[in-house]
Amino acid sequence: MQLDVFTQIPHAFAWMTEHPPVANVLGTELDLRLFNYRDSTPLRAGQIDDEPYGGGEGMVLRVDVVAAALEAVYGGVPAHRVVALTPSGRRLEQGLVEELAAEERLTILSSRFEGFDQRIVDHLATEAVSIGPYVLSGGELPAMVLLDAVVRKLPGALAEGSAERESFSEAFEGGVEHPHYTRPAEYRGWHVPDVLLSGDHARIEEWRREQSRVRSVTR
Ligand SMILES: C[S@@+](CC[C@H](N)C(=O)[O-])C[C@H]1O[C@@H](n2cnc3c(N)ncnc32)[C@H](O)[C@@H]1O
Repeated sequence: MQLDVFTQIPHAFAWMTEHPPVANVLGTELDLRLFNYRDSTPLRAGQIDDEPYGGGEGMVLRVDVVAAALEAVYGGVPAHRVVALTPSGRRLEQGLVEELAAEERLTILSSRFEGFDQRIVDHLATEAVSIGPYVLSGGELPAMVLLDAVVRKLPGALAEGSAERESFSEAFEGGVEHPHYTRPAEYRGWHVPDVLLSGDHARIEEWRREQSRVRSVTR
């Protein structure tokens, strides 16, 4: 997959490229490219945003700047999916993550300050996505969330089979996973459930399914 992120802070992504899951697939299943709007802005002195029409606080990312960035990289608006990250977008859920992970090419647009000129969302992006009903200061963290969630689905990103048995997967019928425990079996009087120490794999599986079911309906 070729995944392109347009950001004002490309170096913010550096740590991700050094750690799994991104590091596991970088250069093989994943071609990650980071672009700074400032490198292709047609405006002077690296300007990329401007005051909002109608007045108000904050600066707005300009449509001509984003169009120029897409032109520089793709020669125009690309034919593949372009996700604009904004709190007002479609809520990111596992189903959307899996859809996006199946794409061969994907572009993510992030903004800062007051956000995008709406024409970017309407005409340059194919969709707007939100990582949740709260406001962050910029699109870098949302882009990293989306990147991590998508990359986990690429072959080789995780240990064999581990993405198949996790929350929201088919293994748990779209629900959340059962709890996990490890050594010690007792700590400060807090005990690991007996069934997990029983060695009876059928009972353990049944207990896990029930825990997953209860947690999925009560969360
Ligand atoms: C301070 S926010 C803009 C908030 C916007 N004025 C509003 O009230 O909805 C700046 C940028 O951070 C990113 N951002 C912040 N929160 C986000 C979220 N929950 N989901 C996706 N992107 C977000 C977007 O790229 C957004 O344009």
